[in-house]
Amino acid sequence: MHEELLINSDHVLYMMIEHNTSANFVVVGILKTGWKKLCLYNKAVGSCKETMVYCLMDFYVHESRQHKGYGKYLIDYMLQDMHLCAKNLAIENPTKNLLEFMWKHFQLSKIVNQGNYFIVYEEFFDDAFNERNHNDGGNG
Ligand SMILES: CC(C)(COP(=O)(O)OP(=O)(O)OC[C@H]1O[C@@H](n2cnc3c(N)ncnc32)[C@H](O)[C@@H]1OP(=O)(O)O)[C@@H](O)C(=O)NCCC(=O)NCCS
Repeated sequence: MHEELLINSDHVLYMMIEHNTSANFVVVGILKTGWKKLCLYNKAVGSCKETMVYCLMDFYVHESRQHKGYGKYLIDYMLQDMHLCAKNLAIENPTKNLLEFMWKHFQLSKIVNQGNYFIVYEEFFDDAFNERNHNDGGNG
């Protein structure tokens, strides 16, 4: 059942693993992302538009491994994989830890609350990449 849900979903799950031996490994961090069509509110112009946005939906590093740069490594890997910058992301239900994390590593702090469970940063709307998706309603 869970397997089917994952296969049929267009979400991407990045996992950071540590090998204890060549045969054994442990998962120490996960990052779940995916495209979503959101009605995005741009505070600067006071309007909403349907936009395809790459969303960060789940992000977790095991307590015993936090504050060691694993989270930064994981998010950098995903951004490079997707050819995106941190300011291109929407974040679902960000925790205080994640907001601190985004400030520390990407100097992002000016939140535009979307009134649902998502936030983007003001810098989202500065970017030509997002402007294109904003105007086209996304490229799926
Ligand atoms: C957010 C999280 C994924 C970051 O992973 P990480 O491996 O600790 O990240 P890094 O080591 O690369 O960066 C650490 C920075 O993130 C921020 N941060 C991480 N944990 C924090 C906490 N408990 N309180 C405040 N800031 C925190 C800080 O800026 C921290 O810098 P510092 O180590 O100098 O204090 C991890 O803390 C976590 O899993 N938290 C619990 C789950 C969570 O909140 N997930 C976000 C869901 S939206």
